[in-house]
Amino acid sequence: MDPVATPLSETIVTTWRADFPILQRTVYDKPLTYLDNAATTQKPRTVIEVLRHFYSTLNSNVHRGVYYLSEQATEHYEAARRTVQQYLGAPSPKEIVFVRGTTEAINLVAHCMVRTRLREGSEIVLSHMEHHSNIVPWQLAAEQTGARLRVIPITEQGELDLDHYEALLTERTALVAIVHVSNSLGTINPVRELIQKAHERDIPVLVDGAQAIAHLQVNVQELDCDFYAFSGHKVYGPTGIGALYAKRRWLETFPPYQGGGDMIRQVTFERTLYNEIPYKFEAGTPNIAGAVGLKAALEYVQALGLDTIATHERTLLEYATERLQSIPGLRIIGTARQKAAIISFVVDDVHPHDIGTFLDREGVAIRVGHHCTQPVMSFFGVPATSRASFALYNTLEEIDRFVAALQKAVAFFRM
Ligand code: ALA
Repeated sequence: MDPVATPLSETIVTTWRADFPILQRTVYDKPLTYLDNAATTQKPRTVIEVLRHFYSTLNSNVHRGVYYLSEQATEHYEAARRTVQQYLGAPSPKEIVFVRGTTEAINLVAHCMVRTRLREGSEIVLSHMEHHSNIVPWQLAAEQTGARLRVIPITEQGELDLDHYEALLTERTALVAIVHVSNSLGTINPVRELIQKAHERDIPVLVDGAQAIAHLQVNVQELDCDFYAFSGHKVYGPTGIGALYAKRRWLETFPPYQGGGDMIRQVTFERTLYNEIPYKFEAGTPNIAGAVGLKAALEYVQALGLDTIATHERTLLEYATERLQSIPGLRIIGTARQKAAIISFVVDDVHPHDIGTFLDREGVAIRVGHHCTQPVMSFFGVPATSRASFALYNTLEEIDRFVAALQKAVAFFRM
């Protein structure tokens, strides 16, 4: 494969890059090479402009005012919900709950599961490659109910052990909670197959879509998942906004997650009647500007085309994987057959934090640490990894810069 010959990488990406003002800046007098996209993505001008426009011309509260601005703000907020619905292929906007991000979405479902479904002896099946945000809420839920966690093992390649998965599904299983794309390994899990197997036994499935949302076409009806959670900031949108898709039957039977304004129909000191879905789950003033910014981000991605983006990111992944092999003593952690554009690695005799700090001075931003997946680190017997994660605006030239900086770092620390 000669990725340099791919015309897509050369021409279109230059245009895409121009949409992201931050990519023009330098760091320590070096061009910024931003390769920490699994942590958060940069924002295109259209998202920045929409936020500015919202606060400059439309700012007001939603669902409350009878005046022009509030009606406009409400219209934009609800339009954002319809955009999320359409992006996820959900049947109805009523099945889209705005939340702060993936973490809050999972906590919402865990809270409601505690109140409705989990009891002493229930089992929650998750995997060894989950982010802490898809482990800890279930541990809290288990503490409250006497339920327990069952863990799908992973292989040396960083893939799920699917035979073991089936064996874990029993009449005690109350829920499967599984990550779509691993943030530390890059593995793309076969979630459709996992969901089918769970549904054969009437077990609902929550999918943590934080890392998938910017890279894969997600269609919740095709997946048939019960819940799908994602964060706006991982898909070129603002921080502090995300969405939970949940099948209507779950939202209708779940009790509220938080109490407050907007989630009610009527309040007396004796009892409260709750609002209809999804508002029952959106207590308090929501992140209105965030939702509007998220809409702009999803529209931006759709205009570019997820398939086109995915083709480019595959080129980046293959090129970076190949280039990293040139570094003696470097081991890639996570070599699944199906991978998103995330590469974790360790280098003999050089600590990831030293690599991260050295690369920073070269203008290269990567993440080092456990990536909120400590069980993954334990499995591979490492305290931390270095991780480069790519987005639509990254280039082959940036990968060359990254590899050159890494070679320099390794030479420096091995002296
Ligand atoms: N979950 C984010 C990451 O993987 C923060 O970096």
